[in-house]
Amino acid sequence: MEQLAPPTLVVGWSPDGALRILDQRRLPGEVVTRDLRTVEAVVDAIRTLAVRGAPAIGVAAAIGLAVATDGRDLPDVERAAAAVRASRPTAVNLMWAVDRMLGVARTAAAAGAGPGALSAALRAEAERIRAEDVAMCRAMGEHGAGLIGDGMRVLTHCNAGALATAGIGTALAPLYVARSRGVRFSVYADETRPLLQGARLTAWELHRAGIPVTVCADNMAAGLMAAGRVDLVIVGADRIAANGDVANKIGTYGLAVLAKHHGIPFVVVAPMSTVDPHTPDGTAIVIEQRDPAEVTHLAGVRVAAEGAAVHNPAFDVTPHTLITRIVTDRGVLQPPYVFAPNTAVLPPPV
Ligand code: MRU
Repeated sequence: MEQLAPPTLVVGWSPDGALRILDQRRLPGEVVTRDLRTVEAVVDAIRTLAVRGAPAIGVAAAIGLAVATDGRDLPDVERAAAAVRASRPTAVNLMWAVDRMLGVARTAAAAGAGPGALSAALRAEAERIRAEDVAMCRAMGEHGAGLIGDGMRVLTHCNAGALATAGIGTALAPLYVARSRGVRFSVYADETRPLLQGARLTAWELHRAGIPVTVCADNMAAGLMAAGRVDLVIVGADRIAANGDVANKIGTYGLAVLAKHHGIPFVVVAPMSTVDPHTPDGTAIVIEQRDPAEVTHLAGVRVAAEGAAVHNPAFDVTPHTLITRIVTDRGVLQPPYVFAPNTAVLPPPV
């Protein structure tokens, strides 16, 4: 199955111990990796979506923190962590990873670790976070593969694939596992305005994996569903609130409404690192607002009339009532979704 995911490293370590990312701003035209060593470079890569997708930014934050604070003391680590934590507000994996790193740093410092030992502890924790993400992707794929049937036409939004994680993806993981088991299906990739993660990234990685993929503009999904050409909608998540409300790429909510209207299952796939049991429901999720130029310009060329105001939230919230299943690394969940603050307690798996 490994060869079904892009063979390119998305987020990890360079041979000389820097944070290495695939620069997703350059895809699909160019496959370029970048090695990052400073807090400023890590924050910039996350803000500008050079590395993106909730799990991938968590892993990038962890490795980036370890690398950028090499040989420093706890106050420096605290400062770096605050900067990285603030780089994007919606995907909770970022805060989750930074908090894990801080926990390790504080414990090591309290035990009397000097800068060398502190850095070693941070590198080890960052590598654990990366390796856990790989394993969680695999587990989501295994759990969710049964939802993908022969001949299905699956619609997805944004990119929740290998490019969004350290492993084989979240929403695309069940597709990769199903394909490796011989299931034949095809995918519609919403182009995902304004930054085109679907057209640029999802189409790129699925095509490389040999999975038939058709790109469509976001406003074409309704027509496809009305024509009976979509059997399943599958998406990732940036944050899942305690009641199962899901923040994901802008446009996801509209797809969920459409899926409900047409009687099509709407499935969310996310690791437990995306669950935020401290946020009671979707209204409490902070939605990132991005640069108006992402909407007014396409590839540097102005397409919107001068003088018009711009609305550019990066995410929207899909209410739990529209979600048929949530696939996690621990199993496939059905409503009602209840993520308790000390989440060993999960809703009953299907
Ligand atoms: O702004 P992006 O490209 O980081 O948004 C990514 C998404 O919305 C993904 O669907 C989500 O992070 C899940 S990725 C496995």
